[in-house]
Amino acid sequence: MAKLWGGRFSGGPARALEELNASISFDMRLAPYDLAASKAHARVLHRAGLLDETELERMTAALTDLGRRVADGTFEVSLSDEDVHTALERGLVEQLGPLGGKLRAGRSRNDQIATDLRMYCRDHVRGLAADLIDLIDALVSQAAQHVETPVPGMTHLQHAQPVTFAHQLLAHVQAILRDLDRLRDWDARAAVSPLGSGAMAGSSLPLDPTAVAADLGFEAAAANSMDAVADRDFVAELLFVTATIGLHLSRLGEEVVLWSSSEFGWVELDDAYATGSSIMPQKKNPDIAELARGKSGRLVGNLTAMMVTLKALPLTYNKDLQEDKEPVFDSLDTLALLLPAVTGMIATMAVNVSAMAESAPRGFSLATEVADWLVRRGVPFRDAHEITGAVVTHCVSRGIELHEVDDSNLRSISPHLSPEVREVLTVTGALAGRTTPGSAGPKAVTVQLSGIGTQMADWRTWAATSVVPR
Ligand code: ARG
Repeated sequence: MAKLWGGRFSGGPARALEELNASISFDMRLAPYDLAASKAHARVLHRAGLLDETELERMTAALTDLGRRVADGTFEVSLSDEDVHTALERGLVEQLGPLGGKLRAGRSRNDQIATDLRMYCRDHVRGLAADLIDLIDALVSQAAQHVETPVPGMTHLQHAQPVTFAHQLLAHVQAILRDLDRLRDWDARAAVSPLGSGAMAGSSLPLDPTAVAADLGFEAAAANSMDAVADRDFVAELLFVTATIGLHLSRLGEEVVLWSSSEFGWVELDDAYATGSSIMPQKKNPDIAELARGKSGRLVGNLTAMMVTLKALPLTYNKDLQEDKEPVFDSLDTLALLLPAVTGMIATMAVNVSAMAESAPRGFSLATEVADWLVRRGVPFRDAHEITGAVVTHCVSRGIELHEVDDSNLRSISPHLSPEVREVLTVTGALAGRTTPGSAGPKAVTVQLSGIGTQMADWRTWAATSVVPR
């Protein structure tokens, strides 16, 4: 089949070259974007007087038809098509004859691929945002039911201070909200159209890159044609965001693995979102949570691959850049697969409130309350810390909890420790006291919940915006 570059070659390509060089096996998913860009380019050629009215109409109709055939699978491609651009030009020429060959004027695969991939990414980022919003919804609706449920908050995976389960779930929500923010921020920077940059020096034909940019949902046309065809920051940056989403999911996944273990017993996964063992009939495994952990490795790997590919690459286009597509496709596909499963797992998990409540005060997690109580009575925190430490040591040696220390022992540890200290030695009391903004107590968490609630409408609107003409 006809190469786009056959003119100066006498023999055909070696099979090995063809196999290595082709991107058709993975870049056909760019076809809808390539076709939309072709239509916009045809309109610009028409305005420049390079296509007459009938030619433009025939061209547009043929591109639409080609789009339909790509979508329903009747447009077949093979290795010799090399890439999506070659394949679609062949399809156009098959339909239109020599007229099909007019579309390439003022355009190169270098600005085409840079444009197509930006469009693909901007389009798919909206779907990714929608999936993240669904996960936030699941976390928020679990949180709303556990504004008062105490759990031991941990540092070093050791009991630290009691928090509400809602607060812990919303900590994950805050991280995902930042990811949404990153996607939107990325999108604003990615909204620059390379089309019109040609191979790398722009065009001598009277094209209108700004009009094409607007036509394709971009905010602006590239300011520098060399940068436009060489730049893949938009891929690396998106891969950083997807890798970060992966890290966040891995941390949530790891927590679910812990929570659902019999050592914790905080949650039980729904049967529909857990798996069994082929040999141990009693097992219920958190495979989704483990895969959330596991998939983060490949998401980080894709980012690394792209950055290493770009390192030290001279301007402008180099074939190395063909390696940009598979990592970003894979990262977006991976998250599209993973997120609905994680969302379902979170939405359906059953929370064991009594196991959480029982565990919340263990491990002397109320010791800080004692120290703060002493501080409120004028004891310097440094001394309060020492005194409380002595109470804990006393408890450890007797195998008792903080509230079980009798009055005389309290007094002998420190004259400041009157029996009233026991009033702060309840989880409910400790949580009720944490009222400052961002704190773990029910009051502050309710404020946090409503703050998240008010942001979500705006995120849903953004995720539903369509930036790419169909
Ligand atoms: N398949 C190529 C890629 O993905 C398209 C651009 C080809 N440009 C070129 N000068 N050979 O990068």
